[in-house]
Amino acid sequence: MEIILQSDSLSANYIAARIIARQVRQKPESVLGFATGLTPLPLYQFLIKMHRNEGLDFSRVTAFNLDEYVGLDPAHPASYHSYMQDNLFAKINIDKHRTHIPDGLARDIPASCLAYEEKILAAGGIDIQVLGIGSDGHIGFNEPSSSLASRTRIKTLTVQTRKDNAGFFGGEDKVPHHVITMGLGTIMDCRMCLLLAFGKKKARAIAQAVEGPVTAMVPASILQMHPRAIVLVDEDAASELQRAFYYRWVYDNKPDWQKY
Ligand code: PGA
Repeated sequence: MEIILQSDSLSANYIAARIIARQVRQKPESVLGFATGLTPLPLYQFLIKMHRNEGLDFSRVTAFNLDEYVGLDPAHPASYHSYMQDNLFAKINIDKHRTHIPDGLARDIPASCLAYEEKILAAGGIDIQVLGIGSDGHIGFNEPSSSLASRTRIKTLTVQTRKDNAGFFGGEDKVPHHVITMGLGTIMDCRMCLLLAFGKKKARAIAQAVEGPVTAMVPASILQMHPRAIVLVDEDAASELQRAFYYRWVYDNKPDWQKY
């Protein structure tokens, strides 16, 4: 894992944006995996700015999102379909037909999950997957105890995650219980993972994911097994890391050719 510790979340988001922009410039038909939640919002703002000011071209990019709520109409303001439209897709020149988000209204959920996996494969696999982390250590909506080899499927949210997401729905009781999420195995198949985490609320999950044992009880810890996982954190999210000094030194002393 590469741990990049920045003094504030904005500079960490900007590094993530530069990594994605470089990928898209080098390979215009890149396949990008997007995440939702509060964490990647500044990253999407940077990508929009790069599109508008520097002509960053998304016209040949294919996108796959991590997850969606079951039973939520795509037009619902708290759906991840709405989130992606409002915060990124409508503001860049991505082809809508190349954007994919799990179908929370699918009548046959297992068939729809299988089809989602097949679409990712048919697109050539995901080049960069953006990830947030839940305060309980989840990535995507792979809650603690998720199989480390899991594929896209239905999951049940924990009480903690429903509490954490209550703000998007105007109350915890309105947060759906079920979701469709890429599995940990699906995420592990991507060629690069960019995990973003900011704020004290994420400090424990980050310390466990980065420096704890690989365990299904902290699903993000599986990224220790990924050959190219980059963890971007601010000081608060890094505050429980034992080796922060080392990670900072490594980043500050990267050879020029290795910088982002
Ligand atoms: P957040 O969610 O970005 O809103 O904190 C992250 C997650 O649950 O994966």
